[in-house]
Amino acid sequence: MKKVLITRKLFDGAFNRLKRSKFFGEIELDYWDQLSPIPKKELEKRAVGCNAILCSLEDQIDKKIIQNNPQLSVISNYAVGVNNIDTNYCREKSIPVGHTPGVLTEATADLSFALLISAARNIVSSSQSIPKGDWKYWDPEGHLGIELAGKSLGIVGAGRIGKAMAYRAHHGFNMKIQYFNRSKNSELEKNTKAQRVDLSTLARESDFVSIHLPLNDQTVGFIGRDFFNEMKETAILINTARGKIINQSELYQILKDRKIFAAALDVTDPEPLPPGHQLLTLSNCLITPHIGSSTFQTRLSMASIAVENLIDGLEGRELTHRFC
Ligand code: DGY
Repeated sequence: MKKVLITRKLFDGAFNRLKRSKFFGEIELDYWDQLSPIPKKELEKRAVGCNAILCSLEDQIDKKIIQNNPQLSVISNYAVGVNNIDTNYCREKSIPVGHTPGVLTEATADLSFALLISAARNIVSSSQSIPKGDWKYWDPEGHLGIELAGKSLGIVGAGRIGKAMAYRAHHGFNMKIQYFNRSKNSELEKNTKAQRVDLSTLARESDFVSIHLPLNDQTVGFIGRDFFNEMKETAILINTARGKIINQSELYQILKDRKIFAAALDVTDPEPLPPGHQLLTLSNCLITPHIGSSTFQTRLSMASIAVENLIDGLEGRELTHRFC
């Protein structure tokens, strides 16, 4: 009998798909059907002897967990980013890893843009000032922000989400697009007149910068002091990718010294940020709790794809959405 571990509560629609699979009655299912993450120790214990694991982005599927399971034949991540999984070791062991690309592109680009507008126009801080009694009159100099139309946007990482962000900026707000990417993106260039530039040019010339890189060994701490020092004083930095891509203590300093206008982060390191964390003390740093993909439509699609990948793996087929 095959053993399957699912580490997070799935939407009924996705779980029912698993129930309808032809082997459902034949598997031993260990279902952590909670919205909060499975504790690390529990994960390590329950993963032993599993043929398949469906995990979420908070579960570290490291070498030790994989080594303890010689029979592991598929890992399905309930996320597009796979930085929580030792994918190099999975490649070595020929264990397919599934993920959920595509379905979260629009939702995440929407949030990236929403963060940009919110940070530029002080939407959250001005709203929060009302219950404090700070709205006393129409203040000609109150909550002054930055306009978006016709400005320049630097996209760091021109994958699906970066491209979708660029489309919004160019077609909706007539922005000039520059991007940093290891390869040329002809489609992006054609559709948004984007220019590929080096990182330093992007930092110097962009009014707004939006990060859309995957997190891996090459991108940890990729955006730090050197980059910040080149940014405009009126610049806004958006990150909806992964917190570790930015050097957070250097970002804190630059924001505290008001060397850039603001940052808006949907991802941090760690997640969640502990109460009282220095970034939470800044009025020019807007933080949301990793909600880029959090729409009804997208999260259900992500869960469904994660289940499909799991079923593919258990049935010995090529995964529909295989990362490696
Ligand atoms: C992902 O899928 O990697 C996002 O960060 C969460 O939706």
